[in-house]
Amino acid sequence: MTFPRLSVSAESLPLSIFARLYEKLAGFKGDVIPLQIGDTYLMPPAAGRLSQQAYDDARDLYAYGPAPGWPPLVAALTEKVRTVNRIPVEDGGVQITSGATHALACCVGALLDPGDEMILLTPHWPIIRGIAQSRSVVSIEVPFSQMVLAEPGMDPYPLIARAVSAKTRAIYLCTPNNPDGLVLDETTLGAIVRVAEQAGLWILADEVYEHYTYDRPHVSIASLPGMAARTLTVGSFSKSYGQAGLRVGYVAGPRTVIEAVRKMSNHSIYNVPHAMQRAALASLRDGGEFLSDARARYRQARDKAVAALKVPVRVPEGSTYLFIDLAGHGCNAEGCLPVLERVASAGVLLAPGAPFGLAYADWARLCFTAVDEARLLEGIDRINRVL
Ligand SMILES: Cc1ncc(COP(=O)(O)O)c(C=O)c1O
Repeated sequence: MTFPRLSVSAESLPLSIFARLYEKLAGFKGDVIPLQIGDTYLMPPAAGRLSQQAYDDARDLYAYGPAPGWPPLVAALTEKVRTVNRIPVEDGGVQITSGATHALACCVGALLDPGDEMILLTPHWPIIRGIAQSRSVVSIEVPFSQMVLAEPGMDPYPLIARAVSAKTRAIYLCTPNNPDGLVLDETTLGAIVRVAEQAGLWILADEVYEHYTYDRPHVSIASLPGMAARTLTVGSFSKSYGQAGLRVGYVAGPRTVIEAVRKMSNHSIYNVPHAMQRAALASLRDGGEFLSDARARYRQARDKAVAALKVPVRVPEGSTYLFIDLAGHGCNAEGCLPVLERVASAGVLLAPGAPFGLAYADWARLCFTAVDEARLLEGIDRINRVL
C-alpha cells in the first residue's frame, strides 16, 4: 500500500455496476431505452414543479436553514405520517433529509456502530449494503421474499430469527420491495415484529414506494402495536411525486432517536436546500390527484410489461419493477451479465441482479416506469428478441 492511502471502506465500495453495460451500449445507434434506473417518465404534480414556486428571491432561499427541515414541510409530514401511515409520531419526530438515501445513511449512523450487524431481507435495495459498509457495519442477508412467496401462509419468523447474533442491532426491510415488488402484509410484518421484540432490535423501514401498491394496501410496520418506539420509517419525494432531482426525503421515528438522526444529517449536509423543500411541500399539499393518476398508469405499465415479456415473471403487487429470473437464458459463472451485455447491445439497459443479494446473480431488474408505455414495450420487444 502506498502513502497516502484511501480508507478501507472507500476501497471496498463498488463503483457503478453499469460500467460494462455502458461499453456495449456505445456501439448502439438508435433510441437507448434505460430500464435499469428506478425513476419515472412522469412530470411531478403541477404545483410541485420548480417553475410554479413563488421563488420571490426571499433571503430564506439563500440562507442556512433549520437542521430538522423547513418548519412548514416538517409540520405537514408529521401530520401525513400520523394520518396516512398511522404512526403515532411525536412533535420533533420527523427529520427532512437529502432523499431517502441520505435518510438511511443517517439512520445507520444513528443506530449502529462499526462491527454491528444489520439484517437485510433479500433481495434488497443495493445501496443499503454500501451504506452499511461505509460505516463498517456488517450486512447479514436473509433470503426472504422468495421463501415467503414459495409457501404462502408460512411463518417467516425462523428465517429471520436464526440470522440474529449477539451483534445484531437492526433489521432493514423495504415494503413495497425494490426489486421484486413484494408488499408485506400484517401477518408477515408480525413475524418481523416478534424477532425485533425478542432480540431487542431496531427496525429500519424503507417505505419509499408506499403510494405504489396495486393489489393490496401498504402497511407501515411502525403502525403495529408497540413498534413506533423501535422503528425509523423512511419516505421520499423521489418516488412518491416523481421529484428525484430535488433530493428531498425524510425519516419519522421516536423524537429522541430522530435527534440522533438529525446530528448525522447536520454533520453531513447541514440542511436540505430550502428551495427544494418548498417544491416538495407543494406536491405533498396538492399532489393527491397525481398519486392516483400515477398509480393507475404504473399499474397499466406493470400489466402490459408482464404480458409482453416472454420470460415468465411474477406480477409485483407494488413498487415499479419486474424482477426477472434469467437462469437458463445464457447466464454463466458471472451471473446474468453476459445476457445483459447482449441486451445493452440492442440499446436496452437492465440492472444486474448480483447487487440485490448473493442469491440473485442470475436475475435482472426492469423498471416499468422509467419510460413511457411505447418505449417500454419497444424495450421489452428488444429484450425478447435477445433472449
Ligand atoms: C428502496 C429504495 N430506497 C431508497 C431509495 C433512495 O431514494 P432517494 O432518491 O429518495 O434517495 C430508492 C431509490 O431508488 C429505493 O428504491
